[in-house]
Amino acid sequence: MTGKVITIDGPAGSGKSTVSRALAAKLQYLYLDTGALYRALAYKALKINLDMNHPAKLAEFCSTTEVTLKNVNGKMTVWVDGEDVGEKIRTEEVGLAASAISAFPVVREKLLSLQREAGAGGGIVAEGRDMGSVVFPDADFKFYLDADLEERIRRRHDELVSKNRAAERSAISRDMKARDAQDTNRKIAPLTSAPDAVVIDSTSLTVSEVLREILEHLQDPLIADTK
Ligand code: DC
Repeated sequence: MTGKVITIDGPAGSGKSTVSRALAAKLQYLYLDTGALYRALAYKALKINLDMNHPAKLAEFCSTTEVTLKNVNGKMTVWVDGEDVGEKIRTEEVGLAASAISAFPVVREKLLSLQREAGAGGGIVAEGRDMGSVVFPDADFKFYLDADLEERIRRRHDELVSKNRAAERSAISRDMKARDAQDTNRKIAPLTSAPDAVVIDSTSLTVSEVLREILEHLQDPLIADTK
């Protein structure tokens, strides 16, 4: 299967990053982690203590900040003003700030063309909140991955523990609920399942099981062969 655009949307902790990365590797597609773009902007906003509720300041921030995607050995990396932000954007603090800043139209507008350009040639697994609904409405395959809140909290907890990071359940629960509310209730491009997306509830599924289900939906003989 060549050149297709596959979108995977879902809330934080639904397993979409792990699944998207694994799917992209299996298909030898590019993996586009769009959350990383919002995180990159949020990372800089936190660093310079930006007042994101001040429209003029936010607009200036967007017009003067350079966000770029670089393909380094097949891996998409995000750069802000010439800095590879890598793992620095993977904190809960940056995640929450990304959720907040992503609600502003000027921010979404800034990142839209970057995402579309990345997917223009196809051969991409694009992961985020609005991939199937806004960024790639004509995608060849759309998936929406969900899981119960308790399971998503458990996964995030295990992930943080495995990285030797602070992982208090009550804090994770509070932050995840806040992100769910922000991402779902914002006016522009909210977290939603596109009407033509296949919805998969991963609550009681392993990563391999979710991946198998997705591959079955791709319904391409070449894909079926790789299973
Ligand atoms: O997937 P993530 O946790 O890295 O995303 C961080 C935040 O970025 C998320 O809470 C909302 C925002 N985001 C978005 O609004 N649209 C996307 N396509 C991806 C992420």
